[in-house]
Amino acid sequence: MRRIFLLLAGIGLLFAAPAFALNNGLALTPPMGWNSWNKFGCHVDQDLIKQIADAMVSSGMKAAGYQYIIIDDCWQVARDAQGNIVPDPKRFPDGMKALADYIHSKGLKFGIYSDAGTNTCQGRPGSRGYEYQDARTYASWGVDYLKYDWCHTGTQNIQASYETMRDALAASGRPIVFSLCEWGLDDPWKWAGSVGNLWRTTGDINPTWQRIMQILDLNAPLWRYAGPGHWNDPDMLEVGNPGLSTRESKSHFSLWCMLAAPLIAGNDLRHMSPAIRAVLTNKEVIALDQDPLGRQARRIIQQDDTEVWRKPLSGGNVAYLLLNRAETAKEMSLYIGSATRVRDLWKHQDEGPFTNGVFQANVPPHGVVVIRTLSQ
Ligand code: GLA
Repeated sequence: MRRIFLLLAGIGLLFAAPAFALNNGLALTPPMGWNSWNKFGCHVDQDLIKQIADAMVSSGMKAAGYQYIIIDDCWQVARDAQGNIVPDPKRFPDGMKALADYIHSKGLKFGIYSDAGTNTCQGRPGSRGYEYQDARTYASWGVDYLKYDWCHTGTQNIQASYETMRDALAASGRPIVFSLCEWGLDDPWKWAGSVGNLWRTTGDINPTWQRIMQILDLNAPLWRYAGPGHWNDPDMLEVGNPGLSTRESKSHFSLWCMLAAPLIAGNDLRHMSPAIRAVLTNKEVIALDQDPLGRQARRIIQQDDTEVWRKPLSGGNVAYLLLNRAETAKEMSLYIGSATRVRDLWKHQDEGPFTNGVFQANVPPHGVVVIRTLSQ
């Protein structure tokens, strides 16, 4: 009887387990880097990318864990007679291999963008029908990360199209992080764990508080699908871009870290205010994102305009984020246990234990307080 029960439980576990993770050994914690799109759109060239790589190092971002420098759309202009993809010769006169070498010489990694359809979203040549050739080209340049978009795909099957590029990347022989960008159209969280390392869950972000809250809500139910090697991607960061206050940038960043989201900065790293640099390089908050357990936070309390999010960490500790969506400050409280001490990850100080085990904080409008429990 007992054996039958164990067998049934085993089968149950098999079915309950999420899709097997892509077996490329990459992105065991959410990838960290920078992408050109949010700030520069199509205005990309090799000088900009090199300057960004320099700034990644000099600003302390590399030391804080950021690695990938990713060129988004518009680097490509045509295919040659052999079908090889051709980078814009005016904007990238030295070619992509030289740029990759420069980025690698800084101890960073190089990422690029293409599209599963005939054309990219900006009308440049896509990879449809050239998947294996493109993957080989990327590998020969030294590409470490591919973001793969979904424009101009007609009646293509989403899953099959992404599987083709997954297999092409694997056949290239170079380890390349695979970032799916089909905007959550085909519920990628249900199947993409065995196809890519991360998948966009929504349409594009923009630097407004309203959009960031929308994307947060859309990601809240997806917590069970994230884990080492396979992450929900609520889109690249808008931290430091015009449209968000510094406080909103800090909330956006903290929330993305709680969600175990890829941390792909999207601002001009060459001209950051000290306050924005401090947000992007807060190592204590980044440590939540990069925690090896790889769990995405769940929203455990939602009351009027306030919320509490909870993220289990390796070693048995827990992070809590108190969010105030309102236009006025809110007094918030959370029972955390009478012996529990916490660390405030923005004040950088230890606190507690608290009377009756209740942690209290005044949370400013559009603000957050982020704490983690300290081992007893
Ligand atoms: C789509 C993607 C964006 C960006 C642009 C580039 O909109 O979702 O992240 O890559 O294409 O054209």
